[in-house]
This record gives sequence, C-alpha cells and structure tokens, in this order.
Amino acid sequence: MKEKIESGIEGIDKMLYGGIPVRSQIMLAGGPGTGKTLFAFEFLYKGAKIGEPGVFFSFEEESSSIINNAKKAFPSFTDIDKLIDEKKLVVQGLGETKPYIQKDTEGSQYTFGRMITEIESIAESTQATRLVLDSVSLMRLFIREPFEYRSVSMDLVAVLRRLGITSIITTEIETPEKSRLLFQPEFFIYDGLIIMYTSGGPGELSTLTLEVVKMRGSNHSRATVPYEISPNGIELTLIHENRP
Ligand SMILES: Nc1ncnc2c1ncn2[C@@H]1O[C@H](COP(=O)(O)OP(=O)(O)OP(=O)(O)O)[C@@H](O)[C@H]1O
Ligand SMILES: [Mg+2]
Repeated sequence: MKEKIESGIEGIDKMLYGGIPVRSQIMLAGGPGTGKTLFAFEFLYKGAKIGEPGVFFSFEEESSSIINNAKKAFPSFTDIDKLIDEKKLVVQGLGETKPYIQKDTEGSQYTFGRMITEIESIAESTQATRLVLDSVSLMRLFIREPFEYRSVSMDLVAVLRRLGITSIITTEIETPEKSRLLFQPEFFIYDGLIIMYTSGGPGELSTLTLEVVKMRGSNHSRATVPYEISPNGIELTLIHENRP
C-alpha cells in the first residue's frame, strides 16, 4: 500500500520527500489572499486527474466562484469541467454548506455536528480519497470558548481519520508575517501544518513564502520557500538541499 500521495504541487511533494503521508489531515494556514483556496483546489484537481476523487467544501464562497477563479488563475487546468461532470471533482459551495452550520434550539450556540455528518456522508457517497475544508476560520469565530473549539476540531479530525481520506483544511492566521505569528491551539491537532506568509514592508514588493512546519510520519524540508500563483499551478522556488 502506498505510504504517501503526491499532492500534485511539485514543489510541495519535493519538500515532503515524495508527498503527503496518506490519511493525513493537513492544516494550511495563511494570511488573506495568499492562495490557500487555489492551493487546496490544485490538490484536488491533480488528484482527480490521476483517478483519486476529491470533494471541496467551501464555507466562504459559492462553488461557481471557486471554479471560475481556479480556471482564471490556472488556465492550463483545461479539464476542470470534465472532472466535475465525472464526479471526480465535487465542489460544495456556500449554497450547499450553509445549512450544515445551525443555531441550537435556544438559538445561542452554533452547532457543527450536522456539518461533520454531512461531510462524512458526501465523502462516502463520492468515494473521495481527498478532501478540502475551506476554511475552518468561521468555526473559530462561532465557538469562542477555547476548550469547546479544540474539542470540535478534534471531533472533525477524528471523523476524517476514520474515513481514511487525506485532507487539507485551511485557516486564516492573524498576521501574515512569520516573525509575528503566534501558534494557534489548532496547529497541534492536525497531522501536518503548512503556513503561507506574506513578507515585504512599505514601499517594497511583497513576496509569498511557504513553510512546512510539521508533517507527522515524514521528514521534510525546513526551508521557507518563495512561491508564485502561476498559470500552471502553485510554483515553488526550491533551494538546493541535501536530502537526508
Ligand atoms: N489569475 C491570477 N494569476 C495570478 N494570481 C492570481 C490570479 N488570480 C488571483 N491571483 C492571486 O491569488 C490570490 C487569491 O487566491 P486565493 O483565493 O486562493 O487566496 P486565499 O488565501 O484563499 O484568500 P482568502 O483569504 O480571501 O480566502 C489573489 O489575492 C491574487 O494574489
Ligand atoms: Mg480562500
């Protein structure tokens, strides 16, 4: 049985010395506009192309917006519609996902139990082996109590593990600058953590960089690597490293 799956983002697979360990739940954290949604989309698109079905759940955008933005940013991904028709790529946008998050009977608390059940049932019916949740930041806004938030996050990770799928779960970070970033409690729950930063001060061009902070069960590069959102996908500028 395969131990790693190729994310399809070449630079990331190189940084992970072959790919993402199968059945890992990876948190992709980044500032606004750093390319989290596009990165996650590419992960599913590349999987669908090699016969690994994937489901994209967005809690922020309509499915048409996700698909159109991806087509515009990645013009070389010519068969997005075909993969969607074949149900190898399933995109659930706000229209579908909004009802998953409900207020409880007293109207005081939001409940995410239904969201977890829906994710489970759609992932099973599509036989998905890859999954994206974009993003869980909303969940953090609704659940103010840190213990409760951690507990819901752990339930979510447990369900994804049980389903045996490899997931990318995106989240926003408070500051896009590496030097000012504080670790969030959820960073410890997931199997892997990739952070996307923006650097550059006033009057400077900003640069996007990315770092694999952790990846349980695998060695990985410790470099913070510049990347671009190119027509062919997320492109990393790798520095030469001696592989251990
Ligand atoms: N056609 C394009 N070519 C190159 N870069 C693009 C193109 N379209 C969008 N971008 C870049 O991609 C960014 C948006 O990517 P994406 O939506 O994946 O970011 P995000 O991190 O998910 O943002 P948000 O925080 O709003 O969810 C834009 O801010 C822009 O910098
Ligand atoms: Mg996004």
